[in-house]
Amino acid sequence: MLFRGWGESVDERWPDLAVVADHVGVDHLVVTRHALVRQVLADPVTWRPDNALDAVTPLPVAALRVLAGHRFRLPPTLANNSSASHPAIRAVVAEALHPSRVAAQQPWLTGLVRQRVARLAAALDAGEPVDLYADLAADLPLLVLARLVELPDAPVGAVKDFARAALELFWAPLDTDRQLALAAEVGRFHTVLRDFAGTGGGLAAALRADGHSPDVVVGALFFLLVAGQETTSQFLTLLLHRLTAEPAVRAGLRTGSVAVADVVEEGLRLEPPIVTWRRVAAVDATLGGTAVAAGTSVVLWLARAGRDPEVVAAPGRFLPGQRGSRRHLAFGAGAHRCVGAQLARMEAAVVVTEAAALLDGVRVVRPPWCPDNLTFRMPDTFVVRRG
Ligand code: HEM
Repeated sequence: MLFRGWGESVDERWPDLAVVADHVGVDHLVVTRHALVRQVLADPVTWRPDNALDAVTPLPVAALRVLAGHRFRLPPTLANNSSASHPAIRAVVAEALHPSRVAAQQPWLTGLVRQRVARLAAALDAGEPVDLYADLAADLPLLVLARLVELPDAPVGAVKDFARAALELFWAPLDTDRQLALAAEVGRFHTVLRDFAGTGGGLAAALRADGHSPDVVVGALFFLLVAGQETTSQFLTLLLHRLTAEPAVRAGLRTGSVAVADVVEEGLRLEPPIVTWRRVAAVDATLGGTAVAAGTSVVLWLARAGRDPEVVAAPGRFLPGQRGSRRHLAFGAGAHRCVGAQLARMEAAVVVTEAAALLDGVRVVRPPWCPDNLTFRMPDTFVVRRG
C-alpha cells in the first residue's frame, strides 16, 4: 500500500491503524480512519509536521554532497515547520494567495482554457488523439501561480522537470543512481531559486521585508513550486480521467442539475493527488486506543479517509453533493491546512466547466499511469480519441 496508496489497496479491508514497513525496513504507522486522521492533523503539538519533507529513501552521502554543492537547504518553513516562525511565514504566503486575488485570475484562466479546449475539440473532430495531461492540464497551475507570485524567469518545462524531480527524490523508493541524477536536477534549480530569493519581487520581496532569512524565502518558493502547482496539474488530470467514466455526472453538468463545485469536491475526495501526508509523534502518545512511541512516523492515508463509510453515504461512488462529500481531508486540516485550496478549487472548476464536454464520445487510449510514490500521484499522460 505504502507506495501505491491510490490503487486497489485503498478499497481493501484495513484496521484503523496498521504498522507497515517501507522498502528500507522503516516502520510507519498508517492511519486509515477519517476521525483519527483528523485528530492527528488537529494536534500539531503531539503530532508534529517536522518530517513532511524528509526523504523516504534515505539520501546517500554522494547525493547529499551533490545537494550541498548547490547549497541546498530546506529549513522549517511551511509544511515542515512546527516552530514559532510558521504563522508569520504562512500569513505572507496566504496574503499572496488571498481568495480575492485568486478570483481575479478566473477570467484570464477561463479564456486560456477555452482556447485550448477549442483546439483540442478540433483535433478530436479530425480523428486525432489528444493528451489531456500534456496539452491541457500540465502547465495551467504554474501559469496561474506565476501571475500571483513572482517567480524566477525560467522556462515552464524546466520548472516542471525540477518539481517532478523533487517529488521523486523525496517521496519515491529509489536506487542510488537515480537519487544522484535527481539530486543534480533539484540542486540546479535550487540555485536558480536562491539567486531569485535575494532579488525577486512579489512574495520573495514580501518575505524579505517581513525579516525572513534567504533560506526561508527559498524554502517557501521551493514548496510552492513543488507542492503548489504540480499537485494541481495532477488533480486536473485525474479528475478529467475520472469523469470519462462518469457519463451521468457529465450529463448533469450539461443540464445544470450537477454543480461544478460539487464535482470538484467529489473529485478531491475520490482522486486526491496527495494520497498520504506525514507527521511524527513528538512524545509518547495514544491514538485510537493504541500506544504510539515518540519518534514514530505517522502516515495519514488521506485517500482512504475520503472513503470512510462513517463520513460518506456511498464512499466508492462519484456522487457530487452526496452526504459527507465535502468532508474529505485532501487539503489536510488545522494549522497547516493547504493555503492554496481556494486556488486549486478555482482552477479545477474552470477546467471542469470548460473541458467536461470534450469527454463526450471519447475513448481512453492511454489512462494516466502513476509511478510508485509515498505521497504524490504523478500521472505521465492521458490520451483520448473519438469513437
Ligand atoms: C489539488 C491541489 C492541492 C492539494 C490536494 C493540496 C494538498 C495539501 C496538503 C495535504 C497539505 C498539507 C496540509 C496539512 O499538513 O494539514 C498542503 C499544504 C500546503 N499547500 Fe497545498 N495542495 C494543493 C494545491 C496547492 C496550491 C495550488 C498551493 C499554492 C500555490 C498550495 C500550497 C500549500 C502550502 C503553502 C502548504 C503548507 C501550509 C502550511 O504548512 O501552513 N497547495 N497542501
